[in-house]
Amino acid sequence: MALIFDTHAHYDDDVFDKDRNELLESLPSLGVGAVVNVSSSISTAHSAIALADKFDYIWAAVGIHPHSVGDTNSDDLDTIRNLAQKPRVVAVGEIGLDYHYDHPKRDVQLYWFEKQLELAVSLNLPVIIHDREAHEDTLRLLKKYCPRGVVHCFSGSVEMSREVLSLGMYIGLGGTVTFKNAKKPVEVAAMLPLEWLVLETDAPYLAPTPFRGKRCHSGLIAHTAARIAEIRSMQVDELLKITFENACRLYNIMLTE
Ligand code: NI
Repeated sequence: MALIFDTHAHYDDDVFDKDRNELLESLPSLGVGAVVNVSSSISTAHSAIALADKFDYIWAAVGIHPHSVGDTNSDDLDTIRNLAQKPRVVAVGEIGLDYHYDHPKRDVQLYWFEKQLELAVSLNLPVIIHDREAHEDTLRLLKKYCPRGVVHCFSGSVEMSREVLSLGMYIGLGGTVTFKNAKKPVEVAAMLPLEWLVLETDAPYLAPTPFRGKRCHSGLIAHTAARIAEIRSMQVDELLKITFENACRLYNIMLTE
């Protein structure tokens, strides 16, 4: 079987504390060829890099998630800038806007989103975008800064996916596409030009059916890939192969299967 590239996982999360090493040692035997461990704060940026230094199939992304920007200051931005230049770091993320929780307030989220977009563009690194119920402001700022990158766990409509593609950005689809009530992700999975699709877990969250609600890991992408292959009437292997190549392009990682 073709190898899995998980473009978005959080193995620094506490829920992996009890068996992180065993799990990460086992993933290659489950068909996982590459993982980008995405951070959400300064402390998880450090742990993401530590994981990438330890496991040769893991790379890191550093950035501050909208939920964590409330007490961010300019020193933190300098820290992210320094960490972003480490050899195993391939992206700035995850960064973005979350208007579902509105915490912290929108103007604070917008301020740090712009700062981190600017930073990524200045370092010529791709961004990993978190956009929850903030499609309009997200698109506006992506148009303003024109970063390379991916909109992760894409939850927008087919129309919005076309706008993202017109900016030359990738779309990340994960477990939500397998959920029984999924509508928009299924439509996007069907319509999206294949060269702009990447697969992800958001582990430990969003495990695909039939593991919904359980702790997720990158091996479970096999179920997400099977569902998308079914939607597109194609072979799973072919889908895994193409999305693997797409992810290498997105993160500028040189890897051959
Ligand atoms: Ni995430």
